[in-house]
Amino acid sequence: MLVLGIETSCDDTGVALYDADALHRRSAGLLSHALHSQVSMHAEFGGVVPELASRDHIRRVLPLVRQVMAETGRQVHDLNGIAYTQGPGLAGALLVGASIGNAMAYALGIPAVGVHHLEGHLLSPLLSGDPPKLPFIALLVSGGHTQLLQVKDIGRYSLLGETVDDAAGEAFDKTAQLLGLGYPGGPAVSRLATQGNPLRFKLPRPMLNSSDLNFSFSGLKTAVLTALRQSPGDEQAYADLAAAAEAAIVDVLATKSLAAMDSTGIDELVVAGGVGANSRLRQRLSREAGIHGFAVHYPELQFCTDNGAMIAFAGAMRLRRVYPRDTSFTVRARWALEELEPIV
Ligand code: KG4
Ligand code: ZN
Repeated sequence: MLVLGIETSCDDTGVALYDADALHRRSAGLLSHALHSQVSMHAEFGGVVPELASRDHIRRVLPLVRQVMAETGRQVHDLNGIAYTQGPGLAGALLVGASIGNAMAYALGIPAVGVHHLEGHLLSPLLSGDPPKLPFIALLVSGGHTQLLQVKDIGRYSLLGETVDDAAGEAFDKTAQLLGLGYPGGPAVSRLATQGNPLRFKLPRPMLNSSDLNFSFSGLKTAVLTALRQSPGDEQAYADLAAAAEAAIVDVLATKSLAAMDSTGIDELVVAGGVGANSRLRQRLSREAGIHGFAVHYPELQFCTDNGAMIAFAGAMRLRRVYPRDTSFTVRARWALEELEPIV
């Protein structure tokens, strides 16, 4: 079963081709994937401009489809299904992928399936050569979400905790903005942090010891701003603040992940979403895994941030079980993972 995946929920246009019959090794099923990042287009505005994002997706999707087809020597007539991101995300951006995906599927007489963007992120580690075993705990950390989930099976998720305000990625992005590092902030803060001392500034770790598995990151921005105003304005202060902010975010994410493993007794942890690319988070969780005796899995770096491969894969998992016949479609800017139909 050959599935084309289309991701257009935010500022990356991702397209991929996945062969669901290569299930002896899931990672072998990914035949080709291509990505166009809009980062440089949005950079001058300091964040994603939704209307510009939608218009750029329109320009990019079909050339990327042609590219993945050409790379694999397949024709669109070889396709058995099309998966597109149905939500959550920017409504206009989602509509581009949904419209093109459904139009192609209708023209080819094959099914189209709408994929939950976060399910794509959650399942992306299954594309690696060392996939996690089910059930696992997932720390989902992206620009818009920070959640701890119990993944009982593919399609069966329960929310253990989430942020009550900003997402971890947002905390990185806002810190970057304050430090004049531009957008998107995560990688820039992380790079600058390598030259800083994380102990010079004491930043808060809200809800670290709360009895639940929820997070709060909105206070960090204020704390960084206050520290910046009080510091003598030396260049080193910027690097030290980047290091302190990164340490605070990583500390909270790691502590809550450990608490989730403890309370459920599950010993497999998966880290997914853009912030999962953060090397200090990876180092910390790998160290904790060694100490506490659990396994931790990360998607390949290229599949941590938004991409078409995770959508093609999650869509293929759904299309193997269900054959959607309805040709009407909609997108969902907001959509809870727990509302998904179980696959098995
Ligand atoms: O999953 P993603 O690509 O898009 C969303 O669905 O939101 O995540 C984007 C987020 C941004 O906030 C970005 O700053 C953050 O992931 N990010 C990072 C790193 N790479 C991306 N944060 C920290 N360290 C990184 N290396
Ligand atoms: Zn994402």
